Amino acid sequence: MIFAVILAGGTGSRMGSTDMPKQFLEIKGKPILNHTVEKFLPNPKFEKIIVLSPKAWLGHTKEIIRKYTGKSDKIVVIEGGSTRNETIMNAIRYIDGQYGLDDDTVIVTHDSVRPFLTHRIIEENIEAAQQYGACDTVIPATDTIVEGNGTAITAIPDRRKMYQGQTPQSFKAKLLRDAYDSLSAEEKDILTDAAKILVMKGKEVRLVQGETFNIKITYPYDLKIARSLLDEDIV
Ligand code: CTP
Repeated sequence: MIFAVILAGGTGSRMGSTDMPKQFLEIKGKPILNHTVEKFLPNPKFEKIIVLSPKAWLGHTKEIIRKYTGKSDKIVVIEGGSTRNETIMNAIRYIDGQYGLDDDTVIVTHDSVRPFLTHRIIEENIEAAQQYGACDTVIPATDTIVEGNGTAITAIPDRRKMYQGQTPQSFKAKLLRDAYDSLSAEEKDILTDAAKILVMKGKEVRLVQGETFNIKITYPYDLKIARSLLDEDIV
């Protein structure tokens, strides 16, 4: 079985002071979260679309899905975790409890604040996760990536080998859970990226080609870009 896991458990601190976490802010008359969920809804391969939101916003999340997207048996809303990876683990626990995990259970994890992903990206994620166990959506780095220590350059890696990570990141759920469970508390603490859990364990994570416009809304500036992408019919 294949599940979409929409990560909406964050508070959006870098967005600054808004009444609500950024995933609930509107673009083109609809919350960002709804734009994202609606990219997954038409795909018949998903058994369920699991939306994870902060505990205090569970009621609100259910309400906006009903109001803007419409009631659907395919969508479930559950509580996120204290970190992004813990949110993913909550989704895996939910799947395990409801359906049981087998070796072929696939999760397509996606930032709720990346509403512009495409059908192709979703399909290629599913294929790569089924075939190889794990994948990450990336675009080639356009700028030179410089590694530094805060005051000086420590390395300038070959740009041809550099990519910018996006989402979805898709996994065989059991593979990811078992790798995560084998990490120490300190290792878990420093891990912000789910693909890195498997990279640290020496597992192959395949690359799926993303899109430049598959942006993550992080700062107020990104919200402006997102609104103009929709206004100009770029996405
Ligand atoms: N996320 C999540 N659970 C968490 C933390 C983050 O599901 N405990 C989700 C966010 O809701 C977001 C995605 O992960 O959709 C990408 O994370 P980021 O942009 O860092 O979101 P926030 O943590 O909300 O933002 P900030 O770091 O500015 O506080």
